[in-house]
Amino acid sequence: MTESPSVPTIPLNDGHSIPAVGLGTYGLNGADGTAAVVSAIDSGYRLLDTALNYKNEREVGEGVRAASVDRADLFVTTKLPGRHHGYDETLASFDESLAGLGLDYVDLYLIHWPNPRVDKYVDAWRAMVELRRRGVVRSIGVSNFTTAHLDRLIAETDAAPAVNQIELHPRFPQAAMRDYHAKHGIVTESWSPLAKGSDVTSTPVVTAIANRLGVTPTQVVLRWHVELGAVPIPKSADASRQRENLDVFGFALTADDVAAISALESGRLWDADPDTHEEF
Ligand SMILES: NC(=O)c1ccc[n+]([C@@H]2O[C@H](COP(=O)([O-])OP(=O)(O)OC[C@H]3O[C@@H](n4cnc5c(N)ncnc54)[C@H](OP(=O)(O)O)[C@@H]3O)[C@@H](O)[C@H]2O)c1
Repeated sequence: MTESPSVPTIPLNDGHSIPAVGLGTYGLNGADGTAAVVSAIDSGYRLLDTALNYKNEREVGEGVRAASVDRADLFVTTKLPGRHHGYDETLASFDESLAGLGLDYVDLYLIHWPNPRVDKYVDAWRAMVELRRRGVVRSIGVSNFTTAHLDRLIAETDAAPAVNQIELHPRFPQAAMRDYHAKHGIVTESWSPLAKGSDVTSTPVVTAIANRLGVTPTQVVLRWHVELGAVPIPKSADASRQRENLDVFGFALTADDVAAISALESGRLWDADPDTHEEF
């Protein structure tokens, strides 16, 4: 095992803290998936992002047990699928996730999508609060929630999420959501932080900054997330790209760099508008 860089952490509004970069695991399945999780942990990753719907909680749990790091030093996130919204359904779904992972607690449990047409995310949220009270979940949060969904959760339950995991990359910088999160003490997590293989890393803006700093274009994009105070969770199945993606704490961007990258905004990658997109 090579020496691992230490990843800084960001405080959450509940007294816990979250690593500043994590591993996305969508698509990491089977033996190769477990191996990718182990290589990431051995390279220094401490935050692992899965979901019941990724069908790889078993692989993530196996990776956690196989890696040479104490469970207590890892931060495991999983997510409640839309088909399990509702109070009792959420408690049962969590049991299924915990059994799949083979762990006795998770660090962060998220409502994966609000599915507002179904209108059960507040009931799901009350169950998340209960899971936190029982101690089987350390921190609770949401994903793909808009400011209106967050306003409603806070008004009806008086429990603000610790995290909102949203689509965030240079093509969709989410300035209004990040501003709302900052005002409400919610940490922003960035999904598809590299814009999932789009052309972002080959834009002249990004490559010029990379050349100036002597880092890769991917590292520039991930550092942009860090400068914004957001937690990127890049997915990579490859050990050397995993290491590259974690190695973003030895350089900094200027305010002009950050602004130039944010100006690459062109819109969502696909039709993932949380007011209309549903996932079950
Ligand atoms: N909450 C939600 O609704 C939601 C939605 C989407 C995603 N997510 C989470 O966010 C995670 C990340 O998003 P994502 O997987 O959609 O996309 P992403 O992390 O933006 O991009 C992943 C792609 O970039 C490649 N890549 C990674 N590092 C690279 C590097 N250093 N150089 C060149 N290519 C590189 C990967 O290929 P290789 O594997 O071959 O390196 C893969 O094709 C997911 O895995 C999942 O955990 C959550």
